[in-house]
Amino acid sequence: MSTLSEPYSSVNWNGRKILITGGAGQIGSNLLRRLLALGADVTVADNLWRGKRDHLLEQGRPLIDLQHRFVEKDLVVYENCESAVAGQELVFHLADVVAGINYVFGNQFSLFNTNMLMNSHMLRAAIAAGVKQYVYVGTACSYPAEKQKQLHPPPFKEEDVYPAAPESSYGWSKLMGEYECGLAMAENLIDVGVLRLHNVYGPFCEMSPERSQVIPALIRKAIRADHEEFIVWGSGNQRRSFVFVDDVVDALVAVVEKGMNQGVVQIGPGQSHSIRDVAETIVRVSGRDIDICFDTGKPEGDTDRTADWTRAKTLLGWSPRTELQEGIAKTFAWCHQQLSRQSC
Ligand SMILES: NC(=O)c1ccc[n+]([C@@H]2O[C@H](COP(=O)([O-])OP(=O)(O)OC[C@H]3O[C@@H](n4cnc5c(N)ncnc54)[C@H](O)[C@@H]3O)[C@@H](O)[C@H]2O)c1
Repeated sequence: MSTLSEPYSSVNWNGRKILITGGAGQIGSNLLRRLLALGADVTVADNLWRGKRDHLLEQGRPLIDLQHRFVEKDLVVYENCESAVAGQELVFHLADVVAGINYVFGNQFSLFNTNMLMNSHMLRAAIAAGVKQYVYVGTACSYPAEKQKQLHPPPFKEEDVYPAAPESSYGWSKLMGEYECGLAMAENLIDVGVLRLHNVYGPFCEMSPERSQVIPALIRKAIRADHEEFIVWGSGNQRRSFVFVDDVVDALVAVVEKGMNQGVVQIGPGQSHSIRDVAETIVRVSGRDIDICFDTGKPEGDTDRTADWTRAKTLLGWSPRTELQEGIAKTFAWCHQQLSRQSC
């Protein structure tokens, strides 16, 4: 993987009033740290459905003024979106219901309904408040299910998402969010940047059995191997393109600098890893002797997908920088610290 050839920060972020919705979640907490380092004046809105208040702390100290810069509200409600965006120049809209395969397929209606309302209300409130720039994130789960049924399919290009036929209501809801942003952009209502992310992992992730995604779930099982069996859902042959959260934050900053009003840009690596590879890497990183069991009775989702990230490279100067093993080691270290604290 290549390294960055140029710095991402050519825009003056200093003092900029920025709202991160979902800012207590995995991507949002990492973005918060980056934007604060760039000198921005950041507000976070999150109802803590999956995010954590602790993610807004560094060594026990709040990163932002939690009384005035943290809006703990449900963004499904339009009035809450209105109060969160008031006075903001830029919104990173990251809040949505996102979870592991079990939750996604077990809650299709409520997930779709929640995300549709939240995305629509937040965009409308941002336009009404005169927010200048709006960044939205879609998902690789929006690609048609049929195109993800074979191993090693050609890497997806952005336009391969249509004709639309995602497998889950999550994929549909996120695609509708992209579509609505496209309409607002076409009518010059607001400047919009849209990234479509592949499978994101890294520190500040959710680890609970109910709502975690595959990497943190397997890391939890490895750390708790004395109490929990190391069971992998499905055959382990299903493959995903994993992208480390720091690389996603690079892309979020870059889209504001170079990618507004340019349509969707896909963020993910050009090669996938099997879940079996991921499980073995996690066991290796744990340094423990753990038996890996595959439960083929459990759903495993799409077979394979990878990203053609040519647009990300040419438009944003973005490339995936973090190798899977390195990213897993960093995530493992963070999860280990969190779980050790909880058991104290
Ligand atoms: N994690 C991935 O693999 C991935 C891949 C593609 C796209 N995305 C998108 O990136 C964004 C961030 O994902 P993440 O991985 O950080 O997940 P996350 O769950 O850690 O972050 C989402 C945040 O939204 C908050 N939220 C949910 N419902 C809310 C509501 N009604 N009101 C206010 N806040 C609410 C949650 O509490 C959470 O903190 C999401 O829009 C997701 O769809 C994630």
